[in-house]
Amino acid sequence: MPDQTRAELASRLIPMLQEIQEELGYIAPEAVEWLSEHLGVSKQEIFGVATFYNFFRLNPPGRHEIHVCLGTACHVGGGEKLLDTIREKLGIEPGETTPDGRFSLERVACVGACALAPTVVVDGEVHGRMTQRSLKRLLDRIEREDREAMGGK
Ligand code: FES
Repeated sequence: MPDQTRAELASRLIPMLQEIQEELGYIAPEAVEWLSEHLGVSKQEIFGVATFYNFFRLNPPGRHEIHVCLGTACHVGGGEKLLDTIREKLGIEPGETTPDGRFSLERVACVGACALAPTVVVDGEVHGRMTQRSLKRLLDRIEREDREAMGGK
């Protein structure tokens, strides 16, 4: 596809994909199917646009959304190690959700709290000066609170 056409397609699709994500929390396959039928654009092209822009998620978000900052300050401060900690502990990669639907993981470019680097945002709350140890403790605490909320199960 020529670049111009691809850019035009992206500028048409992005607002629709944003609306879908706001409504459903992610780009559901059924929504891609619907868009494909109504716009006469192949599903592959739609997925191509959705995956090119990393603010679109293709999996349903977990109950707890974890965003690891990999902006410059956080990257230098050890953001990748924090990402590794989550990979090891929860077994998911950025863009994925744990099979039990509890946690989802995303990477972000900068959350505007560089003085606190490295940062991790969990359920909208910024946690600064994170270490692998403090991140593990935070995840353990969330799991414990979840268990307690479910009556100790
Ligand atoms: S780079 Fe992480 S908060 Fe700015």
